[in-house]
Amino acid sequence: MTIYRAKDYQDMSRKAANILSAQVILNPASVLGLATGSSPAGVYKQLVEWYKKNDIDFSGVTSINLDEYKGMAPDNLQSYRFFMQEHLFNHVNINPANTFLPDGLAADTDAECTRYDDVIVSRGGIDIQLLGIGHNGHIGFNEPSDTFDTGTHVVPLAQSTIEANKRFFDNEEQVPHHAFTLGIGTIMRARHILLIVSGKAKADIIRTAFNGPVTPLVPASVLQLHSHVTIVGDEDALSKLM
Ligand code: GLP
Repeated sequence: MTIYRAKDYQDMSRKAANILSAQVILNPASVLGLATGSSPAGVYKQLVEWYKKNDIDFSGVTSINLDEYKGMAPDNLQSYRFFMQEHLFNHVNINPANTFLPDGLAADTDAECTRYDDVIVSRGGIDIQLLGIGHNGHIGFNEPSDTFDTGTHVVPLAQSTIEANKRFFDNEEQVPHHAFTLGIGTIMRARHILLIVSGKAKADIIRTAFNGPVTPLVPASVLQLHSHVTIVGDEDALSKLM
């Protein structure tokens, strides 16, 4: 595990964007596992800036997002599809046909999960998986549980996740209670994991996940078993990590 200590959110975003752009320069046909939330927004902003300067070319890239709210249409402002369009896809030359998220509106959820896993396999697997971390240690929407889930599945969101994510909605009632997420097995098969984290509020969970035991009660702790993990965190978030 390699840990890069960044000064602040902006420095974290720039360092992580450097790692992603190096991946794309070294392999223009990279499969990027992408994430949503406050943590990666700065990374995408930086990548868009570099794209505009001709420093990075997304024309051969495939993107596979981690998760999507169940029941949410792609043009809903709170959907993760909308987030990705707004923060990255609309601003770079990625082929829209090569951008994948679970279909929040899929009527047959089992079929949708199978379809999504098949997409990942058919694209040759994920080269680098960008991850944030929830306050309870969730990655994607893999919430604390008794077991590690393997493939794409639908999860009920933890109450703490609903509360953390309500800031993006007008009120808590609007926050969906279920989401599609890649499973821990698929995340662990990514060839490189890039976890980004910022802020004092994440310091405790970072210590628990990376200095504590590996347990599905802290989903991110499983990353201790991955052979190629890079953590880029700011000073506040890494302040309790030994
Ligand atoms: C959300 C997402 C995760 C994300 C996490 C942290 O619920 N499903 O993929 O990593 O919560 O989000 P943030 O970066 O906004 O703190």
